[in-house]
Amino acid sequence: MDIFKFIKKVQENRVIQESLEFPTNFTWGTATAAFQIEGHPDEYREKLSDWAEWLDEPEKVKSPNGAGLAVKHYEKLEEDLTLINDLGAAAYRFSFNWAALHRGPDDFHEETLAFYERLLGGLKVKPFATLVHFVLPNWLAKEGGWENPNTACEFNNFVKFLLENFGEKIQHWITFNEPNIFLGFGYESGIWPPGKTNDLNGYFKAYQGMLTAHELAYKSIKEFNPSHQVGFSQNMYYFQSYQESQEGKLGDVNKPKIKPETTTNTSHISPYKRRVDLDLVPAMIRDQLHNYSFIESCLDMGSLDFLGVNYYTRFIYKFSTQAKDPANPDLDSLLWGQLQNTPESQHNSLGWEIYPEGLYKVLSSEKFKKLLGDKPIFITENGYSHIESSPEDKDLEDSYRIAFIKSHLESIHRAIQENVNIQGYFYWSLIDNFEWALGMEPRFGLIHVDHETYNRTPKASYHYYSDICKTNQVI
Ligand code: NOJ
Repeated sequence: MDIFKFIKKVQENRVIQESLEFPTNFTWGTATAAFQIEGHPDEYREKLSDWAEWLDEPEKVKSPNGAGLAVKHYEKLEEDLTLINDLGAAAYRFSFNWAALHRGPDDFHEETLAFYERLLGGLKVKPFATLVHFVLPNWLAKEGGWENPNTACEFNNFVKFLLENFGEKIQHWITFNEPNIFLGFGYESGIWPPGKTNDLNGYFKAYQGMLTAHELAYKSIKEFNPSHQVGFSQNMYYFQSYQESQEGKLGDVNKPKIKPETTTNTSHISPYKRRVDLDLVPAMIRDQLHNYSFIESCLDMGSLDFLGVNYYTRFIYKFSTQAKDPANPDLDSLLWGQLQNTPESQHNSLGWEIYPEGLYKVLSSEKFKKLLGDKPIFITENGYSHIESSPEDKDLEDSYRIAFIKSHLESIHRAIQENVNIQGYFYWSLIDNFEWALGMEPRFGLIHVDHETYNRTPKASYHYYSDICKTNQVI
């Protein structure tokens, strides 16, 4: 469906549809991450982090120019605090700049600490603190990063330092943001640090290191205060078999794989007929490896008080034993699958399909419900990006983003009606920022940033979302 039809449909729905009430105490928020907004004055200059170094490789980061500065949040903290506090949301998710705070063993940086004291002192809403949002201190990255068991120990020292300084102010701790994306981009495609390709050995070593770090942090935080809540944010895609995407009914990875036989005279055959959908093979493997492995590992260790879910899009897989490029077999091919193009529906400026239904599917799947039971779920990220085609194309009225938010909140509401314990939603992002390898161009923010002047302008979606936060309902 074309985007204008989509928006029209959303607008028509608004007239006929009743508003959607969210549960009392539902937590509304926005999210950011240090490297994407701060522009910490030392980080790029002194190459404090792996990402600060990565920026100097032009073929690895698109339009990196502003990235060392990101959107100058470090400098414009007070102005940004006003925008956060005025929004009307009850919470704000941010990440600590580990690389700038922790510059070597036992070396913690006072001035950066003072920045976070100002941030947490000025926030009038509940902080949700992310401890690792992809970026590593360079002194640890150079020694093997998460593949080196020492990184988990140093991470635990960092957590203890944060507890000493902010343990009374922060109740919700997100140890890792999207460990699966970090591992996939860092060890499969190699488009992010540490830049390794199809390195399954590195992948699982780093996986193990991150898991240990999570476990250590969980214990430290609980020792400090058992009522603190510790979780991590997982990137969750809706993985679908190609057959299901074509027929709209067969092969959903979340449906039982057998269905009752409906023909008469079944006495001589089994009452069940097996459905063959080989496309389910790669979809299920990816679902397990990408979506569930880290969650299951944390659950097994008993170290998950809540789960953060970051949802953006769906991926469709087709069974194949052939690599897309036989000369250069990628991991998808080795896992018997080929990623398919998404159908002609609406996409964001990065070509990601907008598929709100997928969020409902992820949250309401039997597997998800069974594993998470009654544990609180927070949607810790969900967002829409725009790329300016010219300096005039600021898209301040951003009707696409508004339609995106509304349709995804409808999916969440639907899952809540089915007793999935979703306790909050954080829009990604509060403000336009640096989108990693894709540079400064993609704009996910509710607040526009001018890349010349760094002026902030709230978009229409800021006001739209503000109404939702204040009224606890979606109209
Ligand atoms: C998830 C990541 O956590 C965040 O850093 C990124 O900007 C958004 N996805 C959009 O890609």
